[in-house]
Amino acid sequence: MELDAVRNSYARWAPVYDATFGKITHAGRRAAVAHTNARGGDVLEVGVGTGLSLETYGPHLRVTGVDYSPAMLRKARERVARLDLAHVTALRRMDARTLGFPDESFDTVAAMHVLSVVPEPDRVMAEIVRVLRPGGQVVITNHFKHERGLWAGLARAAAPLERVLGWHSDFEIGAVLGENRLEVVDRRGLPPMGMMTFLVLEKRAG
Ligand SMILES: C[S@@+](CC[C@H](N)C(=O)[O-])C[C@H]1O[C@@H](n2cnc3c(N)ncnc32)[C@H](O)[C@@H]1O
Repeated sequence: MELDAVRNSYARWAPVYDATFGKITHAGRRAAVAHTNARGGDVLEVGVGTGLSLETYGPHLRVTGVDYSPAMLRKARERVARLDLAHVTALRRMDARTLGFPDESFDTVAAMHVLSVVPEPDRVMAEIVRVLRPGGQVVITNHFKHERGLWAGLARAAAPLERVLGWHSDFEIGAVLGENRLEVVDRRGLPPMGMMTFLVLEKRAG
């Protein structure tokens, strides 16, 4: 999606996101955060949205969140203040294609339900690799295109509604696997019925 469409779509989503799309995507966030908590260190969450995951990160981490939508970020900031989440060290408005952080700043980058939303996911993946330390990991949960079955049919039907929905329903996994500095270390289906995929990629050292 183009950035204007992202801003407009997520201004509409922000008031209802947690009770709707946010509710059916908990399994992915839980898996991604559990993996991240076991690693420790500096964490960047790209497309942090309303901050649904923020209270589940361990207090031993230093978590930075970025998002392009002012409406979604406002919700995330309210949550951090309300729950007094000291491990969330910054929430910044940023386009994930041009991350304003030095090279090799983070041990883990989490990207949950965002790569099928951003314009130019290949550029976002390149930026993620740049800000990851060698040996660092990107933890992704997303819906990717299914070739057959129920999810394939539903995604095809929803594809023309991209600007209303706020994401590409027929997003190909190949769009996030093109970085040759990243190696797949985990890939599996998540509930409900494998609709979402959990994916961990590691940045090669050297
Ligand atoms: C479906 S929501 C997912 C939010 C959160 N990760 C979650 O799991 O609930 C997608 C988020 O990606 C953000 N986004 C889309 N394009 C972006 C971009 N280019 N840079 C940063 N954030 C972006 C949207 O504003 C929205 O908050």
